[in-house]
Amino acid sequence: MRLQGKTALITGAARGIGLEFARAYIAEGARVALADINAGAVAQAAQSLGPQAIGLHLDVTRQDSIDAAFGSAIAQMGQLDILINNAALFSAAPIAEVSRADYDRLFAVNVAGTLFCTQAAARHMIDRGQGGTIINMASQAGRRGEGLVSVYCATKAAVISLTQSAGLNLIAHGINVNAIAPGVVEGAHWDGVDAFFAKYEGKAPGQKKAEVGAAVPFGRMGTAADLTGMAIFLATAEAKYIVAQCFGVDGGNWMA
Ligand SMILES: NC(=O)c1ccc[n+]([C@@H]2O[C@H](COP(=O)([O-])OP(=O)(O)OC[C@H]3O[C@@H](n4cnc5c(N)ncnc54)[C@H](O)[C@@H]3O)[C@@H](O)[C@H]2O)c1
Repeated sequence: MRLQGKTALITGAARGIGLEFARAYIAEGARVALADINAGAVAQAAQSLGPQAIGLHLDVTRQDSIDAAFGSAIAQMGQLDILINNAALFSAAPIAEVSRADYDRLFAVNVAGTLFCTQAAARHMIDRGQGGTIINMASQAGRRGEGLVSVYCATKAAVISLTQSAGLNLIAHGINVNAIAPGVVEGAHWDGVDAFFAKYEGKAPGQKKAEVGAAVPFGRMGTAADLTGMAIFLATAEAKYIVAQCFGVDGGNWMA
């Protein structure tokens, strides 16, 4: 039980990687607040994980919603030791077709959401004086551009940059900020990505997904469960000297 007695808030935890992180943290002894804009789905997800989970409505683009969700999590769990900034949106389009609305939407969730949830957690952790852990979900997309994915790539590059700045600023308070950069991970998110490539590259539904999976050096797409080891490790005392880093957990995909 590597997270016994710890409490965590995970944004975007109604499904996918965030939900799997919540399951893994609870298995390691943590209590977890699952927070998502999809109130019905997150309530159901929390219920499915049992009494160590609570479900909270959270729109990371709204300060009043951040204040309410963090306040409720801390009131219900007594403290907050770990934040995982996991909520994100994806979109794809050639540069000539990128819309300002999509740009605003993605930066509001992926970048401003990460910054202001980090701020809410950091204020509590600083006041409490016992340090903490903040993990940001970056992406291989933040390490290099992709022709059809300019806005999402730029948001994830910004997440890596925020991880560096927040990591350097908050370690003075014993708060470790680091990031995980997945490659391509099975789930509803990638079904959406596949649909964008079907539209812009004329591929049959499922074709892009099969191609990217086959191209991963490990031999397949990742699963959310492939990422839980890093998410647990970064929240343990063994990781306390790790500051402002971004770790690829991608089957070798980015390196290739
Ligand atoms: N799946 C992949 O291949 C992959 C690869 C690299 C990085 N990532 C990153 O990992 C993280 C999780 O990915 P996933 O595949 O589980 O995504 P997902 O789309 O399945 O889940 C994202 C969750 O975020 C929630 N959300 C969206 N807007 C929100 C808002 N304003 N406030 C609160 N919640 C909001 C959604 O309701 C959803 O439950 C994301 O940051 C993503 O960018 C995923």
